[in-house]
Amino acid sequence: MKIIFATGNENKMKEIREIMADLHCEVLSMKEAGIVVEVEEDGETFEENAQIKARAIAEVAKDAIVLADDSGLEIDFLNKEPGVRSSRFMGVDTPYTIKNQHILELLKETEEEQRSARFVCAIAAVLPDKKEKVIRATIEGQIAKESIGEEGFGYDPIFYVPEFGCTTAELSMEQKNKISHRGKALAKMKKFIIEYYGMQKQSK
Ligand code: IMP
Repeated sequence: MKIIFATGNENKMKEIREIMADLHCEVLSMKEAGIVVEVEEDGETFEENAQIKARAIAEVAKDAIVLADDSGLEIDFLNKEPGVRSSRFMGVDTPYTIKNQHILELLKETEEEQRSARFVCAIAAVLPDKKEKVIRATIEGQIAKESIGEEGFGYDPIFYVPEFGCTTAELSMEQKNKISHRGKALAKMKKFIIEYYGMQKQSK
């Protein structure tokens, strides 16, 4: 069985390969599978966007489990913005140092309890038998008072996790993968795949 993950991002591929390592599946990026598909992520939810991508790839990928993800940051004080528009927020080419500074500015006058936020990740699967599954996972936190940490990417330096007493940009990739929205969603998807194919074997 092959798993094709709909991303061009090498960090995501590394993460998914690590998590899926004990599945005895070949895990391929779109590039490795020789698939070139342009998809417009115009859904209103993370789930919709992940499904749009997974379905588009599944059209051309035969006999493979196709997985696609969509993720972003929801800030309660900003009515859950930037949400599905996280990478487009202030323009795709705007550096995150500027985006993060802008968010800190927008929340400057807020009390701690008004700074709640979460990273959300939806992963959609289209199986070779055309069955579909979509999974969501989150990590709850707060917008920090200042930008701290060098690890990670995107909004990590301003995402404070009270449980750990630091931002996700202060965690190593291994530490972050264990608790992150994407790490948790991938682990849930792996469980689903194991159970689905396990059940199929028993019913034969
Ligand atoms: P996508 O799912 O690759 O489209 O990512 C959407 C955007 O959400 C990214 O470009 C980041 O702005 C933000 N984002 C998603 N996950 C994370 C994370 O783990 N850390 C920081 N930013 C993230």
